[in-house]
Amino acid sequence: MDAISVIRTKRDSGELSDAQIDWVIDAYTRGEVADEQMSALAMAILLNGMKPHEISRWTDAMIRSGVRMDFSSLPLPTSDKHSTGGVGDKITLPLAPLVAACGAAVPQLSGRGLGHTGGTLDKLESIPGWRALLSNEEMLDVLRSTGAVICAAGDGLAPADKKLYALRDVTGTVEAIPLIASSIMSKKIAEGTGALVLDVKVGSGAFMKNLDNARELARTMVGLGTNAGVNTVALLTDMSTPLGLTAGNALEVRESIEVLAGGGPADVVELTLALAREMLAAAGVHGKDPADALRDGSAMDHWRRMIAAQGGDVDAPLPVAREQHVIPAPASGVLTGLDAYAVGVCAWRLGAGRARKEDPVQAGAGVEMHAKPGDTVVAGQPLLTLHTDTPERYDYAIEALTGGIEVSPAGTAFTPNPIVLDRIA
Ligand code: URA
Repeated sequence: MDAISVIRTKRDSGELSDAQIDWVIDAYTRGEVADEQMSALAMAILLNGMKPHEISRWTDAMIRSGVRMDFSSLPLPTSDKHSTGGVGDKITLPLAPLVAACGAAVPQLSGRGLGHTGGTLDKLESIPGWRALLSNEEMLDVLRSTGAVICAAGDGLAPADKKLYALRDVTGTVEAIPLIASSIMSKKIAEGTGALVLDVKVGSGAFMKNLDNARELARTMVGLGTNAGVNTVALLTDMSTPLGLTAGNALEVRESIEVLAGGGPADVVELTLALAREMLAAAGVHGKDPADALRDGSAMDHWRRMIAAQGGDVDAPLPVAREQHVIPAPASGVLTGLDAYAVGVCAWRLGAGRARKEDPVQAGAGVEMHAKPGDTVVAGQPLLTLHTDTPERYDYAIEALTGGIEVSPAGTAFTPNPIVLDRIA
């Protein structure tokens, strides 16, 4: 077997055989297939696609590149959630303790932000003392004692994906449905969760810009999960505008704590509850309504225990950026557009995100929104507050908002998109 013949097969729109797939994933993980060869293959897959049986074999080969975790010793059913990534998407933070409070165990292996979408681990690391890196034993201990754990995936889990995802990120080959589906599902199947709810984002701030592509991605992932014995469901959810009123690490932790305290923005609460109900149903756990667990403080209790178990000081003040700059509403009327991608890039440029994997992030940086699409605004009122430790970034960050804010004359009819657009099971 050689890399060039595998690349040629896909370049010429052929189907890769099981043997070709097994070989190329294994040889790439071992360093025998070079990055430039894998980049060419990834581009051929992006351009020419893959048949369902190829995607399934590719996913399986990535799972077999590393270890599989096993939660069968836990007394509770396990349920996890994975989002394809969005702006202001802090849902994992309130969701994991909420589902644990309702009786399912939540083993949540999360990632860091890259590009304009934020990462759960970066957000939680803004809590003083909190540790993302746990050994497998520590992960199981936290899960057993608190019902939920959010941590980084160990190096042994789907190492082929770790290498390939970093390569795709710098070769313009992220947005390929077979590659996204196999990347996400190899990690989730290797993680060993019994049930999985996928939050497939649709809109300007997401990988999938339209519903048809998002449906195809969701169907592909649900098929992969179901065939692997994981009870998998997908919700397609709106990412045309940011979720909630904050995009940035500590800012989003603060908003998540508001949700756990029974408040918080309506869209964040609605999506958290919708995903929690799906996670509990998929795990076969019935009885407690997640809305009650937000009201009665039990979700907050689980949050405090979960954060403390990973070294986080739940009572310490969250970091605040050194500088703030207010962007006023450009006109009076109805806010009819606040674009998720524009706000995500702005937050990223302020220092909330990173350009390269190894870059640090600023805990306090980001964008605070004072109105949501559909709200009435008055010219000059604060619309956004930009937070950063490095004010020399303001011009570059503000440039990202060009065309992303739209105010229409008073009285303009505006119907916001529903949060949940579709469900695929
Ligand atoms: N998240 C992943 O883990 N992989 C992708 O390819 C895209 C989003």
